[in-house]
Amino acid sequence: MLFEKKTLLGLDIGSQSIKMVDLAKVRGGYELKALGVGLIPSECIVDKDIMDSETVVDTINNLRDNLKIRSRGSSTAISGHSVIVKKAELPLMSENELQQTLMLEAEQYIPFDINDVYLDSFILGESLERSDMMDVLFVAAKKELVNDYSAAVRNAGLKPMLMDVDVFALETMYETSYPDAPESIVALVDVGATMININVIKDGMSIFARDISMGGRQLTERIQREFGVSFERAENIKIGANIDGIDLERINYIFKMASETYVQEIRRTLDFFLSTMVNENIERIYVSGGSCRVPGLIPLLEKQMDVPAEMANPFNTIKWDDKIFDPEYMAYIAPQMAVAVGLALRRADYKW
Ligand SMILES: Nc1ncnc2c1ncn2[C@@H]1O[C@H](COP(=O)(O)OP(=O)(O)OP(=O)(O)O)[C@@H](O)[C@H]1O
Ligand SMILES: [Mg+2]
Repeated sequence: MLFEKKTLLGLDIGSQSIKMVDLAKVRGGYELKALGVGLIPSECIVDKDIMDSETVVDTINNLRDNLKIRSRGSSTAISGHSVIVKKAELPLMSENELQQTLMLEAEQYIPFDINDVYLDSFILGESLERSDMMDVLFVAAKKELVNDYSAAVRNAGLKPMLMDVDVFALETMYETSYPDAPESIVALVDVGATMININVIKDGMSIFARDISMGGRQLTERIQREFGVSFERAENIKIGANIDGIDLERINYIFKMASETYVQEIRRTLDFFLSTMVNENIERIYVSGGSCRVPGLIPLLEKQMDVPAEMANPFNTIKWDDKIFDPEYMAYIAPQMAVAVGLALRRADYKW
């Protein structure tokens, strides 16, 4: 083997929290070595752009110190309006030929100046409609965004080995966590603080990906306005930690309204995807991200889409020691770690 297959440190730089996951490759799978979450103030990352890199770097550093992680290769992810993932149909050609035509072809699919983006593509396979065509997945990411995230990782003493996209990290997580899933088409939906990432997978391949600018922060702000409380208090109310003097009926009503808003947007996006497919249905939805815990969200999604929906458990097949990790905390934090686990499952020899 040319490369030693080392795992990478999974580093999910979210708008509200930075998540770190360290896995070891063990016989028959993976084992959790370390896991941590560091909160960052809301003005640090706005619209997924890093506004305050010092705080981001400090938070990564603190996590590394607390988890006693030695400096090494890490994988991180980007998402949002500066990242485009699109499927296109092109004439059959080799990987090499595709690389050559990439700059030419991509221009018509990507609404950015081609000189400002990093481009990548994956051949998905022969087109279903025409045997002389193939489906290709394009990924374009603004260089500035990639460079900012890489710099933050580097300034925290880690080696940015791989820059992934949130939706693909979810896909990696799904493949490892649900290897025996009988469904052919599933949707992975991550509801974070400012972003909902959606990836539809068919037989192990992404066929549709979309980010929606919406998340738990709007709900926190609604609670702030409704009860005249600080951001911190509103966050606590949300997780049921500081509800003295709070009208439960009112808060439940706010949760219901928030769930309806999220579900409406997710449904609109998935319905759009379904309208482009013939005789295909989504058979299951896995929901992750901190905001998937909003009471009532998953049952409402299930009902409105008429598709079974469940909370994703990225530790489904990963071993972890219940003497080191508190099972109650693990059950709580699991869905929020979906992207970080997907990133930690990447290998050092993988090239983006
Ligand atoms: N128990 C809970 N109930 C409702 N919301 C919750 C709960 N716990 C966390 N959240 C919300 O989840 C969000 C944080 O989730 P997550 O860590 O997945 O986001 P992020 O990755 O930082 O953000 P993004 O991916 O949008 O950049 C916050 O809005 C937080 O208030
Ligand atoms: Mg996130």
